[in-house]
Amino acid sequence: MNSVRFLNLELKNPTVLASGILGLTASSMWRVVEVGGAGAVTTKSFNKDWRSGHKNPSILPFRHGLLNAVGLSNPGIDEMVKEIGKFKQRASAPIFASIFGRTIDEFAEVTQRTVEAEPDLLEVNVSCPNVHSEFGQPFGDSLSDTAKVTEIVKKHAGSIPVSIKLGPHGPGIARLAKVCEENGADAITAINTVGPGMLIDIDVRKPILSNKTGGVSGPAILPIAVKSVYEVYRQVKIPIIGTGGVTQPEDAVQLILAGASLIGIGTAVYYQGIKVFEKIARGIEAYLQKYGFTSLDEIRGLAHE
Ligand SMILES: Cc1cc2nc3c(=O)[nH]c(=O)nc-3n(C[C@H](O)[C@H](O)[C@H](O)COP(=O)(O)O)c2cc1C
Repeated sequence: MNSVRFLNLELKNPTVLASGILGLTASSMWRVVEVGGAGAVTTKSFNKDWRSGHKNPSILPFRHGLLNAVGLSNPGIDEMVKEIGKFKQRASAPIFASIFGRTIDEFAEVTQRTVEAEPDLLEVNVSCPNVHSEFGQPFGDSLSDTAKVTEIVKKHAGSIPVSIKLGPHGPGIARLAKVCEENGADAITAINTVGPGMLIDIDVRKPILSNKTGGVSGPAILPIAVKSVYEVYRQVKIPIIGTGGVTQPEDAVQLILAGASLIGIGTAVYYQGIKVFEKIARGIEAYLQKYGFTSLDEIRGLAHE
């Protein structure tokens, strides 16, 4: 596939490992690029200190995707900065560092420390739907909190581009995206998991996840992701990393027609393994050839015309 440009970056194809899947170590992320064929990788979201996350069971496969309440478990910034550094030593693809904070000050601190590792992009997770019990409402459910987080991260990010990761909740993703753009965001990642949702064990007659509820991902949320990207594209000029429910090349093409520049893939890695990146990149290329297009730029946002 022809390489794609995204902001100041060059990717060999538009597929990106979404945050939360195989993104904790340099070695797993190398494999996703070198064996799986991903165009870029995103780390698991991390904050200042180590977090154990929620107790097991925390990930539950179901017919149409996954229900997860991992609870933002991560080894903390010291370890993640080391892994980003290691990845970059032999990387043949960009790395996006996914960060979060419990407070605005923590977002500032985590940004400052992460920038030292020189990731290619900072992805700011303000939209995880499964840590309400600990954190309260996500920052991304409020226009003013989203504005504050965007502003503070941009202030400390230096020349590293910033993408704010939004969900379909709260005041509406298009309004949220606009606020991000107005406060300096360079891109939007849409969407995070949806919900939270719940599944019940009918023999035990209790919710299955230890957290009871979790974020929904995979094919079940593709229509929500497509609509979200469509709405964001109408509202802002900054590019979109379209994520949610992509398991086949046709799903990725839908997100591009809605306005996405890159395609995040998470749950499909769980079901299909890391070669899914190569499969989807090739399938997008085949779609372009079938209809006589020569680049993604020619089809991005076409569903709006
Ligand atoms: C097990 C699991 C863990 C996740 N962890 C994170 C995370 O740490 N940070 C984040 O921004 N998104 C996280 N996500 C959300 C994904 O990055 C993605 O936005 C969402 O799952 C929709 O894409 P998909 O349907 O391709 O999985 C997680 C998703 C799953 C399934």
